[in-house]
Amino acid sequence: MSSRAPVLPAAPRSPAQDDVASGRGTSSDAGRVVISCDDVHKLYLAGRRSVYALKAISLAVREREFVSIVGRSGCGKSTLLHCIAGLLPASHGEISINGERVERPGRRDVGLVFQTSALLRWRTTRENILLPAEMFGLSRESIEPRVRALLKLTALDGFEHHYPNQLSGGMQQRVAIARALVHDPSVLLMDEPFGALDAQTRETMNVELMRIWEATPKTVLFVTHDLQEAAFLSNRVVVMTSAPGSIQEIVEVPLPHPRRLDMLYSGAFVETVKRLRELLACQR
Ligand SMILES: Nc1ncnc2c1ncn2[C@@H]1O[C@H](COP(=O)(O)OP(=O)(O)OP(=O)(O)O)[C@@H](O)[C@H]1O
Ligand SMILES: [Mg+2]
Repeated sequence: MSSRAPVLPAAPRSPAQDDVASGRGTSSDAGRVVISCDDVHKLYLAGRRSVYALKAISLAVREREFVSIVGRSGCGKSTLLHCIAGLLPASHGEISINGERVERPGRRDVGLVFQTSALLRWRTTRENILLPAEMFGLSRESIEPRVRALLKLTALDGFEHHYPNQLSGGMQQRVAIARALVHDPSVLLMDEPFGALDAQTRETMNVELMRIWEATPKTVLFVTHDLQEAAFLSNRVVVMTSAPGSIQEIVEVPLPHPRRLDMLYSGAFVETVKRLRELLACQR
């Protein structure tokens, strides 16, 4: 674990963002629900077959909470994140972010990292990272210090003019993470963002993500297959049942903040991972 402090300059803010940050225009301050899923179902129609991917998901993620989702492959984790991001419509139930019903993607208060990096192959690293800034009309000059800091944070300095096909899979995923952070969203939806990284880079990214989360007020919903990663990063871990995905149990992580790598050897950490493993093991 390095002792380098994360220095991420703030992105220029819109008046609406300032309202959210200050609590103006919201129901209450501390403990405000930022992501809300109320009885969410998702039915996929595949030809003449229909498949329930999600059943009766109700979940409230509060301001500055870091919540992970774990569950067997195919249990609906990506589907849930896509519905919350507005990329897929829920078949039933209601989803809201910052008190506003989710009906379409492209909100400025949300940063997304997909299971695959989803970079534009005709744009360089720097141009890919700048994409949300362009979408939300932020000027290049105002965002430049943040882009430089993100390139450093994700260890991509020196690769800013490379195209995606000139980068490894792990590097492409780091570009996607920098892109999700560039406009300084208050909500981060991350679908196995570190799945393609080697163990050492993954650990570094875990620590850096914790630093960003501890330094800036972000609410994070994070999908992972790695139970240790889930326990290290999270306040709470949602364990999903096998398909159709519903919530089996929500496990609190009794570790203080800031999180440090030596906590991986603490009794509380080991017990949490054991509990998560047991819950998943009792699924068919
Ligand atoms: N477009 C689609 N049409 C029909 N069925 C789909 C579609 N996308 C996903 N599914 C089905 O929905 C279920 C949940 O898929 P999803 O990708 O959300 O799972 P997941 O938990 O993210 O899996 P993994 O851990 O492997 O990424 C699976 O049974 C999958 O086959
Ligand atoms: Mg998935």
